[in-house]
Amino acid sequence: MKIGIVLGTRPEIIKFSPVIRECERLSLDYFILHTGQHYSYNMDRVFFEQLELPEAKYNLDVGSGSHAEQTGRMLIGIEKVLQREMPDVVLVEGDTNTVLAGALAAVKLGVKVGHVEAGLRSYDRNMPEEINRILADHCSDFLFAPTEKSKQILLGEGILEEKVFVTGNTIVDAVFQNLEIAKRTVKVLKDLGLNGDDYFLVTVHRQENVDDERRFRSILCGLEMVRKEYDVELVCPIHPRSMKRMEAFGLRPNGIRLIEPLDYLSFLQLESNARLVLTDSGGVQEEACILGVPCVTLRDNTERPETLDVGSNVLAGTDPKVIVEKVGFMLNRKVCWRNPFGDGRAGMRIIKILRRKLDKCCLVSL
Ligand code: UD1
Ligand code: UDP
Repeated sequence: MKIGIVLGTRPEIIKFSPVIRECERLSLDYFILHTGQHYSYNMDRVFFEQLELPEAKYNLDVGSGSHAEQTGRMLIGIEKVLQREMPDVVLVEGDTNTVLAGALAAVKLGVKVGHVEAGLRSYDRNMPEEINRILADHCSDFLFAPTEKSKQILLGEGILEEKVFVTGNTIVDAVFQNLEIAKRTVKVLKDLGLNGDDYFLVTVHRQENVDDERRFRSILCGLEMVRKEYDVELVCPIHPRSMKRMEAFGLRPNGIRLIEPLDYLSFLQLESNARLVLTDSGGVQEEACILGVPCVTLRDNTERPETLDVGSNVLAGTDPKVIVEKVGFMLNRKVCWRNPFGDGRAGMRIIKILRRKLDKCCLVSL
């Protein structure tokens, strides 16, 4: 069995790391195709180095652009590589343009597609990610749903049950594999002069939030009010998209400590020690839940409803007053929820399922 792993952005590198480690452990025949959607050192290479991942065999260097330009360039490049390699299965992870291009290029060549983190829905089709998820799921032969809830969503859309496997989310594997190492090896708290528990961690980068000046202003205003009301430091590793939009709109956030995007171990340390997280990131909502840190999501919806169900997360949207109120609500909530995203063995499970299914196919065709 030959596996093609298509990835291109920060969260895909992190969430694929347990799958790649498993391929290495079993000495499987696999290759990594990096689309180059993320390319800055601190959005890309730092994760390969720190997580000790093998180099990508191919890098398409597509870089940034409009959705059509970026996805189009990826489709052309991925098709060429797949024609040359002809893997038995292409794996994609999540909901980015890289995922859409990987799934579409593969299915059109008759190559089987495995979608890791299948079945997530925000039911908001204005999000580019929602379109990518739906299309990738409906192109896929193996749908690795993180939870029973995501499996039910897929079945509700008419996807055959035999294609859906509940594996847990590989983010749990990544957190478990790296948290201890982070505790031992990084000193970001010391470097930033933080004592732990005296700050809130903030991340914001969603297109619908930061490309919309009104929403972005409103979020920043809410954050400023939170800082005053709760008298804490707000630390925000700022995504390059958000930094660029902030400059373009002439926004000058008051009282928010902006820092460069962090490597994974430093981010985990900062996140696990924070008193609270404010975010619009998908992965950060999950990690906060796993780490037992209360989360306030700066969005009107989430494709991670499990975090709302267990009580680790609330939706605040972008209204400053509501943001302040939800922070107060979460600070009073007892941290005693269970992690709904699995046991940290999703990567192993995904590879086991593929070997069972694809080795069987080979035997049958022999
Ligand atoms: C993408 C994903 C989003 C995911 C996020 C993870 C899509 C549609 N969006 O959003 O779902 O949550 O990645 O972080 O696929 N830039 C740099 N350096 C980089 C990469 C980007 O400076 O390495 C800047 C460029 O100005 C670029 C902008 O960030 O135009 C946006 O990058 P892009 O990859 O288009 O989308 P993200 O916002 O990163
Ligand atoms: N992350 C990181 N450094 C940072 C910010 C985030 O390593 O400065 C990690 C974080 O731990 C999580 C992932 O990046 O695993 C989330 O990525 P992002 O928020 O960019 O994308 P999303 O999950 O929303 O698609």
